[in-house]
Amino acid sequence: MDYRAYIAEKLNIEGLAREELRDLIAVPPDTSLGDYALPCFKLAKILHRSPALIAEELAAGFQTDAVISSVTAVNGYLNFKVDRLQLLETFCKEFTAAEEKCGYGSSDMGAGKTVCIDYSSVNIAKPFHIGHLSTTVLGGALYRIYGYLGYNVVGINHLGDYGTQFGKLISAYKRWGKMEEVEKGGIHAINDLYVRFNSEATEEMEAEAREYFRLIESGDREANELFSWFKSLTLSYVEKIYDRLHIKFDSYLGESFYIDKIPAVVETLREKGLLVESQGAQVVDLEPFGMPPFIVLRSDGASLYATRDLAAALYRKQTYDFAKCLYVVAYQQNLHFMQLFKVLELMGMPWARDMVHVAYGMVSLEDGAMSTRKGKVVWLEDVISRSIEKAASILAEKNPALAGREDIAEEVGVGAVIFGALYNNKIKDIVFSYDKALNFDGETSVYVQYTCARAASVLERLKDTPLWNGEAVSPNEREFELVKVLSAFPDTVRAAAEAYEPSMIARWCVDAAQVFNKFYIDCRIVNAETEELRRLRKTLTEATSRTLRRALGLLGIGVPEKM
Ligand code: ARG
Repeated sequence: MDYRAYIAEKLNIEGLAREELRDLIAVPPDTSLGDYALPCFKLAKILHRSPALIAEELAAGFQTDAVISSVTAVNGYLNFKVDRLQLLETFCKEFTAAEEKCGYGSSDMGAGKTVCIDYSSVNIAKPFHIGHLSTTVLGGALYRIYGYLGYNVVGINHLGDYGTQFGKLISAYKRWGKMEEVEKGGIHAINDLYVRFNSEATEEMEAEAREYFRLIESGDREANELFSWFKSLTLSYVEKIYDRLHIKFDSYLGESFYIDKIPAVVETLREKGLLVESQGAQVVDLEPFGMPPFIVLRSDGASLYATRDLAAALYRKQTYDFAKCLYVVAYQQNLHFMQLFKVLELMGMPWARDMVHVAYGMVSLEDGAMSTRKGKVVWLEDVISRSIEKAASILAEKNPALAGREDIAEEVGVGAVIFGALYNNKIKDIVFSYDKALNFDGETSVYVQYTCARAASVLERLKDTPLWNGEAVSPNEREFELVKVLSAFPDTVRAAAEAYEPSMIARWCVDAAQVFNKFYIDCRIVNAETEELRRLRKTLTEATSRTLRRALGLLGIGVPEKM
């Protein structure tokens, strides 16, 4: 149950919407005064009284009940305590009911609504590098989170499969490439050819590359066959990485798909009087909005990345009739998306406001040996392999007798990379450190995975103990804290979706694991004082284990049975 909404409903403050009031109510860091608190200084503006006075008046008018057992006013804060047994009973009831359906924290709030998510969006024949980590795992997490909330989700990999670079690649391949080498070396071999072309290119080679690109565009068979081959090598390479990261897509329509749709888009812009000529190029003037012009066609008539995105947005609306269309793309493209959304708005598309640029910061490596300095590319594949290797050696040291260590190391190593990218607020730049990400006692996925394994081994020992069935108990501090953090899960999932911030779920995982571990250390579970307590503790352990698994699952992280 949503306690904050319950309190907001009871407070019923005139001039303030229920939801707004609900969002003002917080969980205080020190819960000795209350389980929830309303900072009244935020109300002073509306109620024109001092926070202290407001808190006292509200406290005096508040009727405690079976849910909220006490209210106090302290220094302009209104503190609420919830009734422990009531909380416990409600949680268990809701948890059981939800698990019988689609899982605790799931919802049907998205029923009938479609969300398109554009993420990972790789470039054909280019390295799949550490810079693609965030878009891939953030997009994948949002995909699952929205799905869990009942939305129909369309995952789109907007491939970078159009541009003059493909002419260069064909030219390079024809000069230096060997079929067997490229088959064998795949994306690495293709990338080497491309890099070599760029470092050795002469005027003449550039002209040749332009000609090859023209041949691709005009449908020349050989040029297109080569290009399709490069494309399929790239995709089979990235798909292997997607599998390891538990990422999937519903559409791989890339930039080239939109080429034949561009004339119609240009025509619409012209009809709406939005197109102007500037130095031979066709542009939409965005000066009144403080932005540089949106270039639709270059002076040679060619389209741009932005033009293809405009065509793609119109196509997506028409095809999916989305309620929201998310673009999980680095903040370097902030301006691009501001311009794109503005042009859609100027075209009179009311849904332009449903377009969201989910921007994120940069990831770099702490480890000097693999730094991107000197232009060296850090391939994502190498980061994942290295993390798995490190996980394997840590596990070998900690638990030499562990069976199935290879699979476990895979889950731990991959999990550390995903969690490392998702733990912080997405807009922050992050420096990834293998040692920090694989610290068993840190704010890490392996800590959470380990907690799950610990819970699983307790549950194994309690196989024959029935679950708690509402018998009278009075929950102690540890049990109470655990129920509280577990009850916060559904709200956390919803908030993460609304803010496009999977980090909220990652943080919840660490919080919940910490609270569980305190409970585990301080309370006897298997040898509980009474039979009722053993049942209760088993129930809480099971709820923790399932919900942590669920939460990590939403982030794309698996949980080994044993560790
Ligand atoms: N391929 C692009 C890049 O690497 C990202 C594409 C993002 N999606 C989009 N619809 N613009 O920068």
